[in-house]
Amino acid sequence: MADKNEWGSNLSFILAMIGSAVGLGNIWRYPYVLYSNGGGAFYIPYIVAILLMGIPFLILEYGVGYNFKSSFAKAARKINSKCEYLGWFLPVAVFMIMIYYSAILGWDGIYIILSFFKGWGVNPDAFFATTLLHSSESYMGLLDFIPVIAVAMLAGWVIIWFISHRDLEAGLGKVSKILVPALFIIMVIIVIFSLTLPGASIGLAELFNPDWSLLGHFEIWMAAFGQIVFSLSLGMSIAFTYASYTRDDADLITNTISIALANSLFENFAALGVFSILGYMSLQSGTAVSELVTQGTGLVFVVYPTVFNVLGQWAYVLGPLFFLTVYLAGLTSILSTIEPLSFSIQNKFGLSRSKTMTILIIVGACISMIYATAFGGTLLGFVDTFINQIALLFGVIVECIIFAWIFKAEKLIDFLNSKTKTITLGKWWLLIVKYILPIFISIIWIGGMFDVAHSGSFDQLNFTIASAILLLVATLIFTILPAKNPDWDNAEERV
Ligand code: PFF
Repeated sequence: MADKNEWGSNLSFILAMIGSAVGLGNIWRYPYVLYSNGGGAFYIPYIVAILLMGIPFLILEYGVGYNFKSSFAKAARKINSKCEYLGWFLPVAVFMIMIYYSAILGWDGIYIILSFFKGWGVNPDAFFATTLLHSSESYMGLLDFIPVIAVAMLAGWVIIWFISHRDLEAGLGKVSKILVPALFIIMVIIVIFSLTLPGASIGLAELFNPDWSLLGHFEIWMAAFGQIVFSLSLGMSIAFTYASYTRDDADLITNTISIALANSLFENFAALGVFSILGYMSLQSGTAVSELVTQGTGLVFVVYPTVFNVLGQWAYVLGPLFFLTVYLAGLTSILSTIEPLSFSIQNKFGLSRSKTMTILIIVGACISMIYATAFGGTLLGFVDTFINQIALLFGVIVECIIFAWIFKAEKLIDFLNSKTKTITLGKWWLLIVKYILPIFISIIWIGGMFDVAHSGSFDQLNFTIASAILLLVATLIFTILPAKNPDWDNAEERV
């Protein structure tokens, strides 16, 4: 029998990890990133980013997590007691992601229902921004509470609670084994259907049309590395936590390769679907694909409903399927965002998994209600930028330093190689995780900070600073609270 925090099988681990990786980023972010960074030419930096960063870094994160078999904060403290603060920083940052992801999940839940009768009406843009979100850029919007969104978000929190408060295998393990394959199957159906639409080839030609000249531009390399960090959920202490839940016999290198492949397969597939649909829309409306294409909430909640409006009867099948895919992708990702903090709290304060999850979910649900106000959409944009451009890249740098340098990545090589059925690690791996990655990611990170400082509005800057302070203070509180579990200083090591 697996214990409360142990996967029942290697399959549960892989599928849960794929569930975490495959998320909104694969559906609404990647197609646009591919298109706007050189189309077909983008595959060169993209593949380099996977080989040079995605796979080597994931192996490191898994390896250290597997070694400790304990939470991120506990392991960080064991590596060096001065690192405990950093050990809480990432789990708290990832919990912040959870809170805003819950808003997007809520919106999408509403659209699943609307899609059965095209409830967004003839003007999806106005419907989304005004009728549903009451979008307001002023702080006063905080006073305008939107009950429909609150209910939809709370429904999501209930589903999350239902899965997460159980033992790992009985909840997350089992759900991943059902939802992740279901997600892939529905996506295949959507993409095949989209490819048969008239005009699909217009969209695809536009998407893949390679602009080789861009290869010399630093931005497309940054875009590729940024996409891989986000898409594979790197440096967020999630992979670490999931690996710490594994049994003693895992082949982590091969698992990493499978997860990276599945993630890329899914996002490239999603790109085919998105651009076929845009090609169809372009043919119907006479508008160029370049004018239709967008990313994020605009793509999912405005462009897609607009397409469904012209698609006729098929929209009643494709619409619900599409919004369901987004929901499943979001759900399997959001489930991973609570694990690092929950496990760290269980380890330090001796609380049970079920109790910790229940408390965290209640706290998360209450805080998330800020997104059920008219200011919610604007706030979400600010927090998203802060997390993606600043906090997460910082996470990769922090992990490279703690794992590769202080813990010493070389300690893992023999062990990982002894289990592998695919590639074996050597000096090249150390070179990547100790030097190339931290340096490269630091450059991107500093670039991102400048970007926010230069292009962000005054409000955005204020909120970025406020989010940063909140994150730092919450992290500090977890660090200084006295441990209740006598085991807190005894992180056992497997390697
Ligand atoms: N990897 C997910 C995606 O591509 O959508 C996003 C994500 C999941 C980001 C979990 C952060 C996270 F903690």
